[in-house]
Amino acid sequence: MEKGALLYEGKAKMVYTTDEASIVWIEYKDAATAYNGEKKASIIGKGRLNNEITSLLFTKLKEMGIDSHFIKRISENEQLVKKVDIIPLETVVRNYAAGSFSKRLGMEEGKVLKRPIVEFYYKDDALGDPILTEDHIEVMALASKEEVAILKEKALQVNEVLSEFFKELGIRLVDFKLEFGKDETGAILLADEISPDTCRFWDMETNEKLDKDVFRRDLGSLTDAYENILARLGGKLHV
Ligand code: C5P
Repeated sequence: MEKGALLYEGKAKMVYTTDEASIVWIEYKDAATAYNGEKKASIIGKGRLNNEITSLLFTKLKEMGIDSHFIKRISENEQLVKKVDIIPLETVVRNYAAGSFSKRLGMEEGKVLKRPIVEFYYKDDALGDPILTEDHIEVMALASKEEVAILKEKALQVNEVLSEFFKELGIRLVDFKLEFGKDETGAILLADEISPDTCRFWDMETNEKLDKDVFRRDLGSLTDAYENILARLGGKLHV
């Protein structure tokens, strides 16, 4: 497979065409950003860690019957994925109060929620990714009601599989963000990445944060935290 032209550059990844129209080439960058790009740093090794962790998690989900755009990891910081049109929504699942939920609603971080909840945010940097109701999504024609129902169902399925899986590794899956896209047939497919950049992972015994909050909140070494996640996954899975 040949790497072609740069299609898109995001904050954490570059996307290139390939000689196959339905496949794109993703390169994970060593860049860390937070607060909608206000805080930035280059962290050597971060691209490799997120590429490996995402590859392992998409492989695990596939084994459990949840398909995604992931095809295969091809180098330390690159992978091939199916080309999809990304739906401009960030789908967030929360099991415990944390982050913007705690800030907005005044609920202490770490409090278990009565049940997992799903939230949607508009993927729009200029607007700062505002939270959306299902009515907002419908009137702005970002997705149909049926599509929103599919996103919710798939997000909760991912949550069931990953919560249980991380529990076995001694990690609490506090919350996470997913993105979905449509393939050439119009089918909705899980896309983007699942990594410590997009999830909150807390050690079950110590509550140590093993995710991007380490960078957001200046809590220590991001690479140590991400290596800890990869090491625990590596003991269970191989790609
Ligand atoms: O900041 P907030 O509490 O809303 O984040 C919820 C979850 O979604 C966290 O796991 C965070 O890492 C993830 N997230 C993300 N990308 C964003 C916003 C949130 O991956 N743009």
